[in-house]
Amino acid sequence: MSAKTGVLTGAAGGIGRATAERLAGEGWSLVLVDRDEGIKGVAGQITVPDGQKIIGVAADITQPEQYSDIDDAVAAIGAPLKFLGLIAGVLQTAGSIETLDVEEWDRVFNINVRANFLLIKHFIPALRTADGASIVTISSWYGKSGHGFFGAYCASKASVISLTHTAADELAHDKIRVNSVAPGNVATSMHFDALRKEAEERSVTFEQMKDTEWGKIPMGRAAEPAEIAAAVSFLAGPDGSYLTGATIDVNGGCMFT
Ligand SMILES: NC(=O)c1ccc[n+]([C@@H]2O[C@H](COP(=O)([O-])OP(=O)(O)OC[C@H]3O[C@@H](n4cnc5c(N)ncnc54)[C@H](O)[C@@H]3O)[C@@H](O)[C@H]2O)c1
Repeated sequence: MSAKTGVLTGAAGGIGRATAERLAGEGWSLVLVDRDEGIKGVAGQITVPDGQKIIGVAADITQPEQYSDIDDAVAAIGAPLKFLGLIAGVLQTAGSIETLDVEEWDRVFNINVRANFLLIKHFIPALRTADGASIVTISSWYGKSGHGFFGAYCASKASVISLTHTAADELAHDKIRVNSVAPGNVATSMHFDALRKEAEERSVTFEQMKDTEWGKIPMGRAAEPAEIAAAVSFLAGPDGSYLTGATIDVNGGCMFT
């Protein structure tokens, strides 16, 4: 039986998958959750030694009635749950506050904020029994300042930081630390799809759009997903033992600009 069991949402995506690979390499048994059915294949591709398990569960995190499938997978691993990584999230369709449909606002908040509240609420009792556990949320540098045409996404990620603070305050006495990682641009399909759309709208090539956006980043490039996973791993494990309520910026210097 593995001594370290974690649940990771959004694990079929760029950052989620890199985090799953990183944590698996550090001895974690993991339940990988994603609404993408490919999650089972992702879990199958991560090889771990005997005694460690990686289980993929296809579930929509906005639907609490689907959480029992995650519980069953945690029970199948059979160790106390010590980690909850809340990585799943969506970007909004770009649009000004004046023109953005309220349905799009609700979709983004439903996934990025409401589902994370529901998941934290659901897993508190299990995490409490571990006698030392942690939760890591993924916010964004867009949650630390407003950006035109991304009002729903920015406000949702600011809410993630606020939810992280509240949970950290409420759960410290239960030996559950709660922290956030705030990435800048990360080389995943979320970022590349947004660049592609923007390039189309401006009638420029994808490479030109990428050069424009990456040119604004002091370090001159987007992060690799593994660079975000490294921060999640730090917060999840013993090196982060005195951190709670913190948000670690991993953004190549974006906040200086
Ligand atoms: N890529 C970036 O530039 C960037 C920057 C800052 C923050 N982030 C945040 O990092 C996190 C991961 O993003 P990524 O870049 O890996 O994106 P991604 O699109 O590659 O992965 C996101 C994953 O979340 C899953 N997901 C979305 N809604 C879900 C739902 N309702 N139920 C279950 N799974 C769901 C998707 O299926 C996908 O696999 C997100 O919260 C995102 O907002 C990304």
